[in-house]
Amino acid sequence: MDTILTFKNVNAGYGRVRILNDLSFEVKKGEVYGVIGPNGCGKTTMFNALIGLIIPTHGEIIYDGKNVTKMKANDRCRLGIGRTYQVPRPFEGMSVFENCLVAAVHGAGHSEKEGRRVALEALKLTELYDKREVRAGELTLLDRKRLEIARALGTEPKLLLLDEVAAGLTEAEVKDVMKMVATLKDAGYSIIWIEHVIETMVKSTDTLMCMAQGSNLVVGEPLEVMNSKLVEEVYLGGVEDDE
Ligand SMILES: Nc1ncnc2c1ncn2[C@@H]1O[C@H](COP(=O)(O)OP(=O)(O)OP(=O)(O)O)[C@@H](O)[C@H]1O
Ligand SMILES: [Mg+2]
Repeated sequence: MDTILTFKNVNAGYGRVRILNDLSFEVKKGEVYGVIGPNGCGKTTMFNALIGLIIPTHGEIIYDGKNVTKMKANDRCRLGIGRTYQVPRPFEGMSVFENCLVAAVHGAGHSEKEGRRVALEALKLTELYDKREVRAGELTLLDRKRLEIARALGTEPKLLLLDEVAAGLTEAEVKDVMKMVATLKDAGYSIIWIEHVIETMVKSTDTLMCMAQGSNLVVGEPLEVMNSKLVEEVYLGGVEDDE
């Protein structure tokens, strides 16, 4: 299988505080790549480096054959890197459809006509089509998470970044999210999915990485990673946060 993303020995952080420490990993085209790790270990920061919110001080990020390490966030978005935010950020006063349209027109740079097509497609994939006229501020948490994914899809990504889209949901709702991720995988997206619920990750991912202190601690087949001694130690509090 081809590779869609490679992190090579990446160091990155905020100001002088380094959060990512020599982080290396590789995501294959079409796979669901899970990322777990204790609070504050740098999972969201890895996404920030990947989309261009922060620029690494060392190492390389290769996306779809291109070195994007220092590329501007907008340009990366147009190359097909699309993210969700850990805390959903819809425009509350706008409808579900309008939220998606903004992503398609401003994120992906589509004309309004093409943007409408892409936005409606994204709403179908996330099962929000019937709620397209509802104001985003009136949505339930599950639907806000769906909208967060739909907005990312509105930018027409090849690589979709999901940051704790299942957090705060009931068990039944988490199953809905798992189904949605499976649908997106079948539709051909490559996906990196950060989540804390390890059981969910074992069922839904092809490869699983556990991060600790900004590095990759264990990577491999999800069940093996879950059962690894190192991962157990980290989750039982063996490693302190960077904070
Ligand atoms: N904008 C920022 N400026 C300064 N420090 C930050 C910023 N964002 C995050 N940090 C710090 O970077 C470290 C890693 O944070 P990050 O959000 O990447 O963790 P995480 O693994 O996503 O944690 P969680 O599981 O809680 O979401 C933490 O110590 C955090 O306080
Ligand atoms: Mg996070």
